[in-house]
Amino acid sequence: MWVGVPREVYPGERRVAATPETVKKLKSMGFSVRVEAGAGQQARFRDSAYAEAGAELADAAAVWGADLVLKIRPPTLEEADRLGAGQTLISTLYPAQNRELLDRIAARGASALALEQIPRISRAQKMDVLSSQAGISGYRAVVEAAAAYGGYFAGQMSAAGKSRPAQVLIIGAGVAGLAAIGAARGLGAEVRAFDVRAASREQVESMGARFLTVELQEDGEAAGGYAKEMSPAFIAAEMALFAAQCREVDVVITTALIPGKRAPTLITAEMVRAMKPGSVIVDMAAEQGGNCELTKPGERAEEDGVILLGYTDLPSRLPGHASQFFGSNLTHLLTDMGSGEAFRVDFDDDVIYQAIVVHQGQVRFPVALRPPRDQKAPAPLKPAVSPDARTVETAAPAKPDVSAPVAAAPAQAPAKKKKGHGHGSSNKTRGGGVLGALTVLALAAAGIWAPPEFLQHFTVFVLACFIGWQVVWSVAPALHTPLMSVTNAISGIIVVGG
Ligand code: NAI
Repeated sequence: MWVGVPREVYPGERRVAATPETVKKLKSMGFSVRVEAGAGQQARFRDSAYAEAGAELADAAAVWGADLVLKIRPPTLEEADRLGAGQTLISTLYPAQNRELLDRIAARGASALALEQIPRISRAQKMDVLSSQAGISGYRAVVEAAAAYGGYFAGQMSAAGKSRPAQVLIIGAGVAGLAAIGAARGLGAEVRAFDVRAASREQVESMGARFLTVELQEDGEAAGGYAKEMSPAFIAAEMALFAAQCREVDVVITTALIPGKRAPTLITAEMVRAMKPGSVIVDMAAEQGGNCELTKPGERAEEDGVILLGYTDLPSRLPGHASQFFGSNLTHLLTDMGSGEAFRVDFDDDVIYQAIVVHQGQVRFPVALRPPRDQKAPAPLKPAVSPDARTVETAAPAKPDVSAPVAAAPAQAPAKKKKGHGHGSSNKTRGGGVLGALTVLALAAAGIWAPPEFLQHFTVFVLACFIGWQVVWSVAPALHTPLMSVTNAISGIIVVGG
């Protein structure tokens, strides 16, 4: 199975969907890889590095003829016309805004997977390009702000005098906002942040920033963890807060977005003019209309001595790492879909079901809610749907868990989230597990087949598993990251076991 990596043609785009490292990984997974000559040049990856990694360098026509085509930006209509039946494009596609593109891909008989449609569930974090690129954008926004700001970020104390740390305000504490807090704190600034989602308070404070609040109580969390559109009264209250903050701070970084909607205007021209000369605003929502009234998308502007940065290519300004993370997201996705010749589109997989927007010439966007897969299973949790159907976390009943021990797998296995990442495990399964463990313990106690030390070690192991499981499953879903899920599981079990 051939994978093709074309050169990105979007103006100013420096990233590439696969780095030489990605190529090595793809080769080890059983794929053959064709990279367009010069595809990695802007991200500082030489053609020779791709060749050494095992890729075949080819022209655009050959690359677009591969079974799987990997891209960062949605293809142009002309690029889409290069696809044919049996091919699958994996890229960001923004289907709600690109209907003509979907129709064009469908007309060619091809399939397309939209990366930003992958549901933001714990299992899919490793393939979440929105998060990997937003993290990079948040970091880069701070770097741009620091470069434009004519002062130290960290407070200084020297024989020549002292300066106070820069005061930074972050509006919107999602993935990008939290990364910006981390970067600004790392440079020594004092950071305060605001978000409409109450859950973000803990995350902001855990990163050493101050969480700002307004008097009005209204939680902005909608389904899937995204923000909802706030009431006019709330927007007025937060804008009053920002008006006061703008007079105090040196840097404002805005990241406030509502999926499928224009970004809310939160900083007015008047607030900008009230800022100290030399202050900087980085409007990360510029592409979606901007959080600041004066932002010029894609440009640097200046208003009364205040610098306004509306760059829309922030991840592309770190092209090497952005490409590396993007490529890594893709290899994780392909690992799940099936390596090499085993690659297939499996609609039983909730992630794939949600992300395939064109299948063999048929447009399937907006993706319908998945029908229950096992009518006999007990009623599943209700699916949570975001307002624009960008995220659908489906807790439909799954197939019986064949990996469970025989004693724990009754014929009518209760519904369980696929691959065991859900929080709800059935009482029957749990009961069966306990029964199995008790049986083994009884056997061990009877000394039928275990040495005398076994019982002690086994007891510690069972306790360790139980406590490790409690540790992992007690973590709030908002804090689930690959790091948390994996290290908590391992350390919870090992520390107690040790
Ligand atoms: P986003 O890019 O859509 O929005 C950025 C931030 O702006 C959000 O935190 C939002 O609450 C905030 N915002 C919206 N309107 C605002 C307003 N009027 N004033 C102030 N702030 C406002 O969000 P992002 O970064 O994509 O993440 C959204 C949620 O998804 C978060 O809860 C995040 O933890 C969660 N998430 C979950 C993942 C997973 O479980 N796999 C992966 C990534 C994110």
